[in-house]
Amino acid sequence: MAETEESSWVYKNRDAPVEARVKDLLSRMTLPEKIGQMTQIERSVASPQVITNSFIGSVQSGAGSWPLEDAKSSDWADMIDGFQRSALASRLGIPIIYGTDAVHGNNNVYGATVFPHNIGLGATRDADLVKRIGAATALEIRASGVHWTFAPCVAVLGDPRWGRCYESYSEAAKIVCEMSLLISGLQGEPPEEHPYGYPFLAGRNNVIACAKHFVGDGGTEKGLSEGNTITSYEDLEKIHVAPYLNCIAQGVSTVMASFSSWNGSRLHSDYFLLTEVLKQKLGFKGFLVSDWDGLETISEPEGSNYRNCVKLGINAGIDMVMVPFKYEQFIQDMTDLVESGEIPMARVNDAVERILRVKFVAGLFEHPLADRSLLGTVGCKEHREVAREAVRKSLVLLKNGKNADTPFLPLDRNAKRILVVGMHANDLGNQCGGWTKIKSGQSGRITIGTTLLDSIKAAVGDKTEVIFEKTPTKETLASSDGFSYAIVAVGEPPYAEMKGDNSELTIPFNGNNIITAVAEKIPTLVILFSGRPMVLEPTVLEKTEALVAAWFPGTEGQGMSDVIFGDYDFKGKLPVSWFKRVDQLPLNAEANSYDPLFPLGFGLTSNFG
Ligand code: BGC
Repeated sequence: MAETEESSWVYKNRDAPVEARVKDLLSRMTLPEKIGQMTQIERSVASPQVITNSFIGSVQSGAGSWPLEDAKSSDWADMIDGFQRSALASRLGIPIIYGTDAVHGNNNVYGATVFPHNIGLGATRDADLVKRIGAATALEIRASGVHWTFAPCVAVLGDPRWGRCYESYSEAAKIVCEMSLLISGLQGEPPEEHPYGYPFLAGRNNVIACAKHFVGDGGTEKGLSEGNTITSYEDLEKIHVAPYLNCIAQGVSTVMASFSSWNGSRLHSDYFLLTEVLKQKLGFKGFLVSDWDGLETISEPEGSNYRNCVKLGINAGIDMVMVPFKYEQFIQDMTDLVESGEIPMARVNDAVERILRVKFVAGLFEHPLADRSLLGTVGCKEHREVAREAVRKSLVLLKNGKNADTPFLPLDRNAKRILVVGMHANDLGNQCGGWTKIKSGQSGRITIGTTLLDSIKAAVGDKTEVIFEKTPTKETLASSDGFSYAIVAVGEPPYAEMKGDNSELTIPFNGNNIITAVAEKIPTLVILFSGRPMVLEPTVLEKTEALVAAWFPGTEGQGMSDVIFGDYDFKGKLPVSWFKRVDQLPLNAEANSYDPLFPLGFGLTSNFG
């Protein structure tokens, strides 16, 4: 009898309208079930019992939290399906939504295609390409059983000293707005009649996107991570809120709150920005997730009085909390706050409705488990081709020859002997940057891909001898006559978030000296791998023949050889102003005193291809 009744419940009917399903399910939920939906825990504390008994709404993998070392997509899918079965075993059988930071491809997974970081994509100015990257990434994410990526970061960059500079598409809000088209690639394209702000997911080959970090994360003073963005509301709206309009118009399902503050007010407890602006004014109807342990940022000193943080955060408009570990305390505090009336039941219902709406829209109730037929898409040739195209288009040519009449590039692929130098020439991890395998990234052959050196070797003729040295030896420099030219690949090691904050921005590992030492002896092309502009000493600019900004291009190194050997033209344009000295920062392209080394939009073109 109960069986028949249950199967006729509206929320179980896939043909019923989403809003009717949401209302029906909400009406059947107890307070613990509602609070459970608002709770996101980390994989390492997620056991079947916890998921089933605490009615957990979401599980995530913090960067680097894999099922096992070098886990493949199928290992991920096995793990996530296991968690999902525990959720389905709960009283109402509400599926979990599993999230990861797949921010430049499904970068946590061994063998996945890794695309250039956002700063490089901003240099392409090619929104359609970015959308195709989103679609390819969605397939690879979905193959691993994950439903939700914490991407894109739509921060508008204020200062390259920020350790997350490379997660931003540009310092120009307009470019960030255009590049947010990644969402239509990830989630699929919303239909014409789709109501503005309504979450949308086209189908099982798509993933839920998350626009982050709301708002002003890129505008903090001195580029400090989790710092303070000091600006009027008018400017905040014009610069930092602007991309969210584009994201919401595409039906972005989720938004993440920022660790940063606005004029001293912590975003995680800012009712005006989270509720009045994002939800009411911009009409966002998806759900708002906190950042990792973000509620703690509300208190002074950070982490004290967690109960009060929960109260302020939820009442300000946070719908799901990335707890991620101390879920027992979160659930206890939430229960207490709702029972005492400090968090109104209406606020809880609103949060849960938003979460359920996304789950229904995403088809999670009908298709909770991984689709193994997608496994073949992981790191497939087609996706690597898209990444290679992105690399080609992201390279910015800053110098080519001593003057326009004597271009140095393209390089001669049949030269007799060439020298390749630098820590970044043959290091896939350095080429990928942060948020690859683990949050801070790692040097070395950390996944499958092609380094710059691999791609040079594949591009040159059979008779060309390629000599590679991480740091050039005295002997090599002494016998420099024998080399037709040198390619010097230097730059930043991988890093992420706070650890990347840097007030000096000099090229690490003696970069400027290595460039000068080689360029003094051999005609040199420098390829700079970095998440941002770096200090370029005048001697470097003077002595090198050619200079290319390659950002963090990812696994497809051939995109670089495609262009330096002249099969394709250089197309990239700077997404960020290149300063002369750090004491000029922050540089503002609209200021009268604007005096960059290379302005926003700079990029020499070539006519090779
Ligand atoms: C970052 C977010 C990320 C989250 C989950 C935080 O430290 O600020 O961008 O999505 O971790 O890994």
